[in-house]
Amino acid sequence: MTQEPLIPNRLDDERGALVILDQTLLPAQVVYRSLYSTEEICRAVKTLQVRGAPAIGIAAAYGAYLAARHAPQDDREAFFAAFYRDCEALAASRPTAVNLFWALNRMRACAAAHKAKPIHEIVAALRREAESIHREDIAQNLAISEHGLALLHPGDGILTHCNAGPIATSRYGTALGPILLGQERGYGFRVFADETRPLLQGARLTAFELQRAGVDVTLICDNMASAVMKNGWVQAVFVGCDRVAANGDTANKIGTSGVAILARHYGIPFYVCGPTTTVDPDTPTGEQIPIEQRDPEEIRSLWYKAPMAPAGCRTYNPAFDVTDHSLITGIVTEKGVARPPFTRSLREMLEK
Ligand code: MRU
Repeated sequence: MTQEPLIPNRLDDERGALVILDQTLLPAQVVYRSLYSTEEICRAVKTLQVRGAPAIGIAAAYGAYLAARHAPQDDREAFFAAFYRDCEALAASRPTAVNLFWALNRMRACAAAHKAKPIHEIVAALRREAESIHREDIAQNLAISEHGLALLHPGDGILTHCNAGPIATSRYGTALGPILLGQERGYGFRVFADETRPLLQGARLTAFELQRAGVDVTLICDNMASAVMKNGWVQAVFVGCDRVAANGDTANKIGTSGVAILARHYGIPFYVCGPTTTVDPDTPTGEQIPIEQRDPEEIRSLWYKAPMAPAGCRTYNPAFDVTDHSLITGIVTEKGVARPPFTRSLREMLEK
């Protein structure tokens, strides 16, 4: 039996809270948390309670609105100081996904455009802007799902890495969008989900979301992707993205670039799915994309009953890697599929 998708972010305007689905507790528990302060929202983003590039952009937009709502309402200078300070704090919560900065820039621009108005009107404009960002992402996800599905055939085997499903976005998902749409239309896909060490987004979230939707999903460890491809079980790779540079180099969850190299070796098309809000024309190539480094304990001890590495063992724990544009078959956006050369196709897509 299929179930309704879960909603990662929701504004509870009556109580002045952002309600998030705590993704760290999935798949065992479905728990929603109400976050009232900028500090709580920043912590939720840092700890991946809310995660996925579009979802953190939406959380930040609502966070900026709530910051304005909770700022001093009787002193313009104090109001703007508090609003901009909280926007800075939200921007510092994670460095790689560009959607966070894009959403906050939109919120700042909205405040600037209404700056001469009474404070309650600025706050109301910020709420409408955050809601627009949320609504637009839903529409973009639907369009990405259609464009992505057009690249697939009934019965295809699809490999995916990390989680780019409904809970990483607003609804429908990016890389999982075409799969879920295909499921509704009887395509009968077989999906291989990489477990995605070290935080297991593939096991905890992708397998969970696909299984709930009734999709035929098989969980594999990251080091099994080559074997599955060699067996001829994969006709396409679909992944999400956290930042696409102007030349098409793409940052996504650590391990994605290895999957792309394997796909090239086995002659399997490799598609990146994401809204144009994830394309960053100000980042020329992947070299300039900041890569988040995370806590060594995610490798050494998280998920284990006892540490699985000697105490103090050095680790290297980048949260993302960059897939070279030369390995990417197409970038599926809400405006269509960008093909190489990406410098031109992405520019045209952003101008559309
Ligand atoms: O660290 P995470 O879990 O936020 O990383 C998420 C990813 O890498 C996703 O693939 C990406 O954000 C796209 S989500 C539609």
